Amino acid sequence: MTILFAPRLTHTLRLPGGDRVTVRPAYPGDAEILQSYIRRLSATSRYNRFFGPLRELPPAELDRATDADLPGRATLIAEISASKPAMIGEARYAVLSDHACEFAISVADTWRGKGLGSVLVRNLQCRVRDLGIPTLVGDVLRSNEGMLAFARKAGFGIAARSVDPKLVRIVKDISVPQAGRPCEELAVPSLLTAA
Ligand SMILES: CC(C)(COP(=O)(O)OP(=O)(O)OC[C@H]1O[C@@H](n2cnc3c(N)ncnc32)[C@H](O)[C@@H]1OP(=O)(O)O)[C@@H](O)C(=O)NCCC(=O)NCCS
Repeated sequence: MTILFAPRLTHTLRLPGGDRVTVRPAYPGDAEILQSYIRRLSATSRYNRFFGPLRELPPAELDRATDADLPGRATLIAEISASKPAMIGEARYAVLSDHACEFAISVADTWRGKGLGSVLVRNLQCRVRDLGIPTLVGDVLRSNEGMLAFARKAGFGIAARSVDPKLVRIVKDISVPQAGRPCEELAVPSLLTAA
């Protein structure tokens, strides 16, 4: 049996419907599962996630996304806990300054509407708050009404200014722990193991 990750970095979460999902940072051995997850997303989802018509991650981007040693940034991988884990979502964060951290997220098309996006973004918030960063920001295509509705429900506001007219910048103060849902309740540390 091989322990793949430090237990404190792998969180086992429960979706509202009862499914168990693990969320953990990606490492270089995840390049193939991340790439195949991206290829399985619909063209519209990939466009909304990466702001362009991309079929898969370019090699340099894949390397960066699976580099576990970059300070202040990580890709979180969500997997359905089954005999063979399957990747069903991802979220990435990158610290921009002492005050702000940027994030982006996607959920597999067949897993939408089950609360995974909400669980993943709350877990990401816990991790970023643990780094001492008080604000989470994200850039969303102005045409991406689904993500904008999701972000509103997750407590994000809209920044007065955006860097690009095609984009809307969403912002959330994460300095206060989530009411009624402290990180400890959301995330039960677990070991992810492989035979
Ligand atoms: C946006 C996205 C992450 C939402 O994930 P999800 O797992 O379906 O979201 P959830 O099930 O947790 O939904 C949470 C809330 O947001 C709302 N919501 C989610 N998607 C929505 C949509 N397309 N339209 C309207 N509301 C939506 C849900 O109704 C839900 O509200 P509720 O709590 O009152 O039921 C997912 O649709 C996705 O991956 N989109 C493609 C990639 C993308 O656009 N990424 C953004 C780049 S920054």
